[in-house]
Amino acid sequence: VHWTAEEKQLITSLWAKVDVATCGAEALARLLIVYPWTQRFFASFGNLSSPTAILGNPRVRAHGKKVLTSFGEAIKNLDTIKKYFAQLSKLHCEKLHVDPENFRLLGDILIVVLAANYSKDFSPACQAAWQKVVRVVAHALAHEYH
Ligand code: HEM
Repeated sequence: VHWTAEEKQLITSLWAKVDVATCGAEALARLLIVYPWTQRFFASFGNLSSPTAILGNPRVRAHGKKVLTSFGEAIKNLDTIKKYFAQLSKLHCEKLHVDPENFRLLGDILIVVLAANYSKDFSPACQAAWQKVVRVVAHALAHEYH
């Protein structure tokens, strides 16, 4: 995948503004609320019985932050992303058994979270660059599946 200087600029300038803890928590909570079948992977996280419970669940918040932090590291390694995510891909495949379709769903959710929280910055060109990022991340995380 080729990245233009303009795309990289659009990606990093928005990322510099992102509050990783808040947006990570919101993204994972929205995933669990909008696509409730994803809850089965997080059965050990405690109360996921309603949108309010999910949004207030500290383990959802902490894990959402962890996931978005990992996403941020990927952004710094765009040109070597498959290598960067190889271990994590193996973990999600072999140990967690997460269907890669869920990576695409989380990517779309992240786009919504960014648009909702940074609407002024989220121009169509910015969205285009970010759609590419979430697609490439989902692809890299699915790469080690067999
Ligand atoms: C764990 C990243 C998507 C389910 C993790 C961990 C990271 C991570 C960094 C912690 C790994 C460790 O402890 O060594 C990501 C990224 C994603 C993604 C970057 C996509 C952008 C998903 C999706 C699901 C999922 C879509 C399920 C719907 C899990 C589960 C764990 C996990 C169940 C273990 C949680 C626990 O018990 O602590 N992920 N993940 N992940 N991920 Fe993902």
